[in-house]
Amino acid sequence: MNLKDKVAVVTGGAYGLGLATVTRLVEKGAKVVIFDLNEEKAKEAVEQLGENVRFVLVNVADDESVQNGIAQTIDAFGAIHICVNCAGVGTAAKMIGKKGALPLEDFS
Ligand SMILES: NC(=O)c1ccc[n+]([C@@H]2O[C@H](COP(=O)([O-])OP(=O)(O)OC[C@H]3O[C@@H](n4cnc5c(N)ncnc54)[C@H](O)[C@@H]3O)[C@@H](O)[C@H]2O)c1
Repeated sequence: MNLKDKVAVVTGGAYGLGLATVTRLVEKGAKVVIFDLNEEKAKEAVEQLGENVRFVLVNVADDESVQNGIAQTIDAFGAIHICVNCAGVGTAAKMIGKKGALPLEDFS
């Protein structure tokens, strides 16, 4: 796939699977905007990956915040061609283990 000069938004792109996705997209020539709550990690990523990566502080659970991120992405790079959603929270646990089902509280 030719990703040269395509513009991607990666939510949760400051860390983990999202950061790996950002790194790969940039290697392939894309421009990427990270939407994340973790400013420290996102700024590290921007520093390491260069001018084709930007960061906007976005809470994906907040509509206004997402709209702001989209507007800033268009301002910076003129378009959005790709969106990869990696933002989220999760703890590693079995749905059913020796002690029974995962507590509903943890799932929520
Ligand atoms: N890693 C795995 O093996 C695995 C397996 C299945 C599902 N998942 C899911 O995939 C997603 C990414 O996994 P990961 O391991 O990279 O997680 P991670 O915790 O390493 O990274 C998640 C990123 O999302 C950001 N984030 C969290 N809430 C946010 C919000 N409201 N707005 C914006 N950014 C937010 C965090 O700041 C963080 O940078 C998660 O939803 C996780 O539950 C992961």
